[in-house]
Amino acid sequence: MEKYVIHGGKPLHGEVEISGAKNAAVAIIPAALMVHGVCRLENLPEISDTDTLLRILTYLGAKVNMINRSTVELDCTHVQMDLIPDQMWDMTRRIRASYYLIGAMLGRFGRARTTMPGGCNFGIRPIDQHIKGLTALGADVTLSGGFICANARDGHLHGRTIYLDKVSVGATINIMIAAVTAEGRTVIENVAREPHIVDLANFLNSMGADVRGAGTDVIKIRGVKQLHGGSYALIPDQIEAGTYMAAVAAAGGSIRVSNIIPKHLEGISSKLQEMNVEVEEGDDYVLVRRDGPLHNANIKTKPYPGFPTDMQPQMTAVLCCAPGVSVVTEAVWSSGRFKYVAELNKMGAHIEVEDQSAFIQGVDSLTGATVRACDLRAGAAMVIAGLAAQGVTQIEDVLYIERGYQDIVGKFRALGADIRCIDEPEEPARGWNAG
Ligand code: EPZ
Repeated sequence: MEKYVIHGGKPLHGEVEISGAKNAAVAIIPAALMVHGVCRLENLPEISDTDTLLRILTYLGAKVNMINRSTVELDCTHVQMDLIPDQMWDMTRRIRASYYLIGAMLGRFGRARTTMPGGCNFGIRPIDQHIKGLTALGADVTLSGGFICANARDGHLHGRTIYLDKVSVGATINIMIAAVTAEGRTVIENVAREPHIVDLANFLNSMGADVRGAGTDVIKIRGVKQLHGGSYALIPDQIEAGTYMAAVAAAGGSIRVSNIIPKHLEGISSKLQEMNVEVEEGDDYVLVRRDGPLHNANIKTKPYPGFPTDMQPQMTAVLCCAPGVSVVTEAVWSSGRFKYVAELNKMGAHIEVEDQSAFIQGVDSLTGATVRACDLRAGAAMVIAGLAAQGVTQIEDVLYIERGYQDIVGKFRALGADIRCIDEPEEPARGWNAG
């Protein structure tokens, strides 16, 4: 079993280049199932979630040609399967984004069957809004025995107006993918506005779809007969960038975070500035520096453009050493997203969770300990805490982290961190999920 060992307390210096956005990649790869022809994807992150999805597509009959570490050519023209075969169930159960295969297969074949998705386990993760949208487009959707089945009632989908009762990234993406070839016009109201929603729309449009309004709260889609091949470069990962920014806030130092879109980081940058961290924006980079004491701050997560829930654990790790009391409120997920707090407290943090909020009493410094990555972003928070802590931190269950961060150990080492990955003899398998 791999674990990370960190000798903390060293400020970070240098430059880190951000990879393509995980949550865009895990939507765009399944969406490529809709494309007839060769679809070239650039700036794909090299993480296990994308690897899993590419393996599933290969099994379904797609030609997958890795051009280099971040570029792949996908040809799904001859894919015939409208159900995920049992050999793939283990993979589809591991990741959240496998449910986008439902939208894609339904859109392409009028039928789809796969397992219920996995995903980071921070409480109940309903999919009622996905079902509402796909049903409105003319599908019968059933959930039974851990499987999702969807059948277009008359063989194909029809455009409709759909109002999402809850702003959901996943439901917005699934309905968008399914609707691109539905007959007529689909209007989805109260949609998510995350940068990866816009990226998916741009990808679909560059393959011949007609999707408008992504980035606002109404998306309008005029169905086209089919999508054609093309080339598309994914946006950089705003959460990966935010994680390195948070790390320098916690450990101190001065770094340049490059290959980013600063606009996507505004919520994170302004919160860090409030915490006495200098953030200077360039065209496609930010300079981040912290050499004075941190200031306490309150954070409440919200759908984009609000403060991202996927940065909540990392910011809590930073605030552990900010004098005074900080309050971090989780308003997207349940308090199940605070499971990692017990791990931070093992490192000497003083955090109490009440309802949806974590109350953080700042301490002078954290102390290294053996902790585990409870999920992807919780794992990133442990890395940040370990970098800031005095002494040695060991992080277990790092598979979670590697599902969403490309070469996190190599990137932190290049910034001067003393972090390494060691392999220890295997323990009995534990369930693992991400996304
Ligand atoms: C996506 O999850 C991301 N995952 C998550 O990132 C992220 O935390 C989340 O969006 C919010 O930004 C992927 O993109 C693969 P939602 P998703 O549907 O789509 C409720 C990470 O670390 N809801 O926007 O599953 C739901 O319970 C991961 O990269 C319903 O009630 O999230 C939650 O409270 C973790 N019914 C809220 O909406 C539904 O049908 C937002 O969920 C769907 C969701």
